[in-house]
Amino acid sequence: MTRESSGRGVTLHEGGLNSYDGFSWFYDTYFALPIIEPLWKFIENKCVRRLASKELVIDLCCGTGRLANKFLSGGWLSVICIDLSTDQLAFARCVAPDATFSCQDARSFSWHEQANLVVSMCDSLAHMCSTDDLLAVFKSVCRALKPGGLFIFDLNDDQGVSERRNGPFNIARSDHVATGMSVYNYETRRTNLNVTLFSLADERWIRADFAFEQTYYERPLVEKLLRDAGLSLVDCFDTKLDLKFDFELGRRMYVATR
Ligand SMILES: C[S@@+](CC[C@H](N)C(=O)[O-])C[C@H]1O[C@@H](n2cnc3c(N)ncnc32)[C@H](O)[C@@H]1O
Repeated sequence: MTRESSGRGVTLHEGGLNSYDGFSWFYDTYFALPIIEPLWKFIENKCVRRLASKELVIDLCCGTGRLANKFLSGGWLSVICIDLSTDQLAFARCVAPDATFSCQDARSFSWHEQANLVVSMCDSLAHMCSTDDLLAVFKSVCRALKPGGLFIFDLNDDQGVSERRNGPFNIARSDHVATGMSVYNYETRRTNLNVTLFSLADERWIRADFAFEQTYYERPLVEKLLRDAGLSLVDCFDTKLDLKFDFELGRRMYVATR
């Protein structure tokens, strides 16, 4: 849960591409916490109210469990958290102890009970860098969803990706320093983010390196893949224009049903 106990010193070659192991506390501080309130408001106000009951929700690619915690306090009976990173799941277990946790790949996950709601938020599906991978996720979601259930996820389109994903960032605090570079490749349509993180523990600076890859999808392709998987689009919101999130352009919230 703390920086000192959360996999400090895990290096890139151990974790590999798109591994959040060792990155959880940083992800939680700089990515998950700043977005949780507007995200929750959106899910409650625009989506959950369409559902007849709040029995079972699956948080696919749950990350550090901030959303799972909201579902628990929002009256959901069962909250299932699925992620491929054991560190993210360990962190999430501290944040949302009453949820159920399962380490599975989103492309092939299954659950023994069908859900009223599946969510996969905050750039999780942007990690699905091929249409085959995204389709596999959609098919798994379709199997896990009750008829009439909702699936909410976000994806970027090309409008923002090429601008906002290009460039450096630097953070310097008394006990950690992060330096990162995001590079968008126009040919592969992929963004590669490399982060080097130094954290201070027991008067020693520990270095860890992380690499993440993401892509974008235009809405017509997303709709087609949903249909191919047995799902259909109900709504689509631009996070900046429609939802007034303090976000850049080019991110959409999709609401689909089975
Ligand atoms: C950008 S984070 C988003 C976390 C969380 N949904 C949130 O709202 O903060 C992406 C998460 O997806 C997980 N992830 C990436 N690829 C995955 C896969 N193939 N299967 C399951 N989880 C995956 C990562 O471990 C990470 O926790």
